[in-house]
Amino acid sequence: MAELITAQSLTKDYRLTRRREGVLGGLADLVKPRKHTLRAVDEVSFCIDQGEMVGYIGANGAGKSTTIKMLTGILTPTSGEVRVGGLVPYRQRQSYTRHIGVVFGQRTQLWWDLAVVESFRLLQRIYEVSEDRYKRQMRVFDELLGLEEFLHQPVRKLSLGQRMRCDLAAALLHEPKVLFLDEPTIGLDVVAKENVRDFLREARDNLGVTVILTTHDLGDIEQLCRRIIIIDHGKVLYDGLLEDLRRGPGHRLRLCLDLAEPASASDLARLTGDLPVIWDHDPAAADTPGHRHCAMFSRAETTAAAILSVVVANHRLRDMVLTEPAIEDVVRRIYREGMAPVPELTGE
Ligand SMILES: Nc1ncnc2c1ncn2[C@@H]1O[C@H](COP(=O)(O)OP(=O)(O)O)[C@@H](O)[C@H]1O
Ligand SMILES: [Mg+2]
Repeated sequence: MAELITAQSLTKDYRLTRRREGVLGGLADLVKPRKHTLRAVDEVSFCIDQGEMVGYIGANGAGKSTTIKMLTGILTPTSGEVRVGGLVPYRQRQSYTRHIGVVFGQRTQLWWDLAVVESFRLLQRIYEVSEDRYKRQMRVFDELLGLEEFLHQPVRKLSLGQRMRCDLAAALLHEPKVLFLDEPTIGLDVVAKENVRDFLREARDNLGVTVILTTHDLGDIEQLCRRIIIIDHGKVLYDGLLEDLRRGPGHRLRLCLDLAEPASASDLARLTGDLPVIWDHDPAAADTPGHRHCAMFSRAETTAAAILSVVVANHRLRDMVLTEPAIEDVVRRIYREGMAPVPELTGE
């Protein structure tokens, strides 16, 4: 796949004035302002291939929006390089905007007092979209986003979910190669969120558009992105596949065994011997604790299959459930402990 977006040691500093209190403080600020620098994005590097949908995730204030603003040419980096489709966003802004679509969840790109359809017509002119193409695009958007019902309403009268659907359509009207989404599901209710996610899945699979999606809602990521970049205090903590992150600790294999005599956790620990497993009574099962057990393990160290094969060689298995660690837990651990390298899984 061709590389489409490259960021190389991308850095952004904001210069801030630290205000002093009181009238005298105010005067002192006028005469000699106290400046300091905040590094919002710190030597961020990554490459994104054409057609990828990458989740750019981090807590509030981690530097997501600042990165997006540099990628879209709104901000000039303090240092480092960025190229999208061979263009340098902040230098070639005019030609660049024809190739990209941008959605900021916090702020609409549409004209507040105009009917939605008039906003689309304006965008059609700005981007010089032919009438044929415009009609074709609008048909697709209507099918996927159901725009028709509020096309003639002014933007200010739309619900947040409706507005977001319009913003997505507006960002894609000129068929950009790249779509930047900054918190597109922020503040949406469950149904509206689902609509947006369904649409983005369609866009990813059928429109061939490359997407960077920033969010602090990990549900978005789980449903849409295989690859994630996690940032914290402006630095990249992790860049890789979501499924690789899940190979760490936190897996649970719950077993319901057919036993004449209830077994204890230590009985089972003896059985699995050298396997790196911690046994406990299944916390989710209050009844018959001696028959229900939970094996906690890390997929980097062993597999459910290895544990099961030892257990079923000795006991009859009635039922089992395997749960992966929740993505929230995985990301929380990375924030807390930093990223330990995930070892390769061997001997499967
Ligand atoms: N225009 C600005 N001026 C000064 N500081 C800013 C500005 N925009 C963002 N910041 C600061 O930079 C840091 C990163 O912000 P931002 O990129 O908006 O994070 P995120 O989108 O991940 O929440 C934060 O500490 C924020 O307060
Ligand atoms: Mg933000």
